[in-house]
Amino acid sequence: MTKKYVLVYAPATIANLGSGYDVLGVAIEKPGDIVEAKRTLEPGVHFTLSTIHENVPATSRKNVAAHVAALMLEEFKPPFGIKLTLHKHMPIGSGLGSSAASSVGAVVAVNELLQKKLRRSELLRFAVEGERLASGSPHADNAAPSLFGGVCLVRSYTPLEVVQIPIQKTFFWVVVHPHVIVKTKEARSILPKNVPLASAVRQWGNVSGLTVGLMTGNVALVGKSMEDTLVEPFRAKLIPAFDEVKRAALSHGAAGCSISGSGPSVFALAPSLKQARVIGKAMRDVFQSVAHVESEMYVSATNMNGAYVIDSGKG
Ligand code: HSE
Repeated sequence: MTKKYVLVYAPATIANLGSGYDVLGVAIEKPGDIVEAKRTLEPGVHFTLSTIHENVPATSRKNVAAHVAALMLEEFKPPFGIKLTLHKHMPIGSGLGSSAASSVGAVVAVNELLQKKLRRSELLRFAVEGERLASGSPHADNAAPSLFGGVCLVRSYTPLEVVQIPIQKTFFWVVVHPHVIVKTKEARSILPKNVPLASAVRQWGNVSGLTVGLMTGNVALVGKSMEDTLVEPFRAKLIPAFDEVKRAALSHGAAGCSISGSGPSVFALAPSLKQARVIGKAMRDVFQSVAHVESEMYVSATNMNGAYVIDSGKG
């Protein structure tokens, strides 16, 4: 049946997972963006933004959802246009994979109207173009888990190849978002272009340990392998009271704690949902008492589904 309307949910993600800069990411349940797409007779993308958040690009040229939708229409040239509405439920510059969720929501929605022309795996190359527009770099460690769910490993960028890590059990995550903005582009620009071999050895030991821990259900191994000596020390300065927040997470039972994506959100791995709430509260308290910054927290099991169609019923 020809679809004329679709509503898609795409979840937030925690990129890097500490040691896996640009190669690891996990989908969480909430928050997430919702993209609504409707066929129109007029060609092209007609974009509308609906949000309470500030500074979200509102034009077709600048918004990632409209951008990736336009790229798909240019390539597949369907005999219709699309009215695209982005219900943006996450702030930008949050470290929650906000731009990736918008891009993923849009590519899944457009694909539905194109009668599922592409498989999920083929949608990733469009979604990462949203990341390129937002941050200057087409990194896939937010877009892949938002699209596929679970924990994803970007094994290669040239060519783009992603594998979903077969995790052995449910892992529990808490993400605390302090109300400051860190732009991914800037958080990338402060990183050194080269790293000493000894640091690289430590990092790939950690990334491998993290992968094995995920596959064997070893929370302690995943937690300690989140150690990031390459990126975190540089970005920690962009997050108020980061060291204190991390200490609070670890002293309240977190198996590991690091920066979510490019920050300012900070995430921790917890042994249970209940403990995740305790850890998150301790982290928020420190943001408030030490940095005088408001925050909110999201507690979640690993989201194994990724983006999904909420509704495709209306005409
Ligand atoms: N891997 C990217 C970075 C994620 O750390 O810059 C950005 O959300």
